[in-house]
Amino acid sequence: MDKQILKITDSVEWIGVLDKEITTFDIVMETKYGTTYNSYFINAEKKTIVETVKEKFWDVYEEKLRKLCDPSEIEYIIVNHTEPDHAGGLRKLLKIAPNAKILGSTSALRFLKDQIGEEFPQQAVRGGDIIDLGNKTIEVISAPNLHWPDSIYTYLKEDKVLFTCDSFGAHFCHDDMYINKVGNYDDAYQYYFDVILKPFSKFFLQAIERIRPLEIEAICTGHGPLITEGCQEIIDKTEKLCQEYIAQYPVKNRILIAYVSAYGFTKTIAEKIAEGAAEVQGVEIDLCDIEKMDIGTLADKIDKASAYLLGSPTINQNMLPQLYQVFAHMTPIRDKDKLAGCFGSYGWSGEAEKQLIGNIENLKLNYWGNSLFLKFRPQEKDFERIKTYGKNFALIVSGC
Ligand SMILES: Cc1cc2nc3c(=O)[nH]c(=O)nc-3n(C[C@H](O)[C@H](O)[C@H](O)COP(=O)(O)O)c2cc1C
Ligand SMILES: [Fe+2]
Ligand SMILES: [Fe+2]
Repeated sequence: MDKQILKITDSVEWIGVLDKEITTFDIVMETKYGTTYNSYFINAEKKTIVETVKEKFWDVYEEKLRKLCDPSEIEYIIVNHTEPDHAGGLRKLLKIAPNAKILGSTSALRFLKDQIGEEFPQQAVRGGDIIDLGNKTIEVISAPNLHWPDSIYTYLKEDKVLFTCDSFGAHFCHDDMYINKVGNYDDAYQYYFDVILKPFSKFFLQAIERIRPLEIEAICTGHGPLITEGCQEIIDKTEKLCQEYIAQYPVKNRILIAYVSAYGFTKTIAEKIAEGAAEVQGVEIDLCDIEKMDIGTLADKIDKASAYLLGSPTINQNMLPQLYQVFAHMTPIRDKDKLAGCFGSYGWSGEAEKQLIGNIENLKLNYWGNSLFLKFRPQEKDFERIKTYGKNFALIVSGC
């Protein structure tokens, strides 16, 4: 079944692959509709490939490619983003396409150096550059941080086709890849946006502004349906999602107090901190035990908060894994400079403190400079001090 090649325009063909079996993507993303790795062949005087596919799917990909051209005729391989779900096939492609040059942003080429592991013909491109394909032209559009620093968009002028890799994509697999054949995939689109692109909404809006002047008849993404109609609607809808997100997140003066606690000692500290913080007018407090919290809820809380107080006991010389989860869902681009502190109970060595502070600093949050760690059970006599810790933190958050 997955042998199909799909026409986008007279000179652009989809040669991607379907991945129906996948159930989780990048370890954390549920992919209940499967996904696709979209790659495109541009049949111009200078034959060009845009993106490749995950290495695992090389065989079926190569077969499709050879149906369209002799790979030694390929002159350009455009890489809009170097994550291995798109760039994984490059090592093998370079072997069968010895006359091809890889075009990508400077950071894309740097990332590829460490993925491919050997020298390869290359040319760095940047926003505004024109790539001459003989009878066709490609314009490069700057679109960084969507969702890696390496990303760009490319636009095939004569055909009015925009290549965006992950942007405007979705994990969605269907035998008929055309958008007007796949049925409604709004929830897959929304989920992909929420998990992959939403944190970078600021950058997405900049990219959308840059593509506004273009006449676009097809958006060729890296995953999911081929957007061969309704391009403006999708762009408008996405712009709105980004604007809504930016308007709502983070919520001003919202403190997330997130903790785990085996015996309730760290929990007591968290509650007393919350009590103290609540004395400050105008702050919103989200106090939560995150031991069993699902990842989506946790990610949303992290996203929403404008400041963090994170609590963990020390267990086996370590903080607890739920706190690693918290840090894994932060992104320095979005969360840097949010005020942060940490607290917890420990028995003797208390390693969690250093680990929490280390992570806070690594992620470029604004570490408050104060932590609050107590041995075993917080006693009545400690309560005032703990409340004061919370109150002082909240005062800074509220700007008083
Ligand atoms: C399995 C286990 C391992 C622990 N390992 C450490 C440790 O390596 N260092 C330390 O300071 N405390 C250690 N502790 C002690 C806890 O940090 C301490 O009991 C703390 O008060 C628990 O707080 P909680 O009730 O908020 O979980 C350990 C406790 C348990 C149950
Ligand atoms: Fe990606
Ligand atoms: Fe991707």
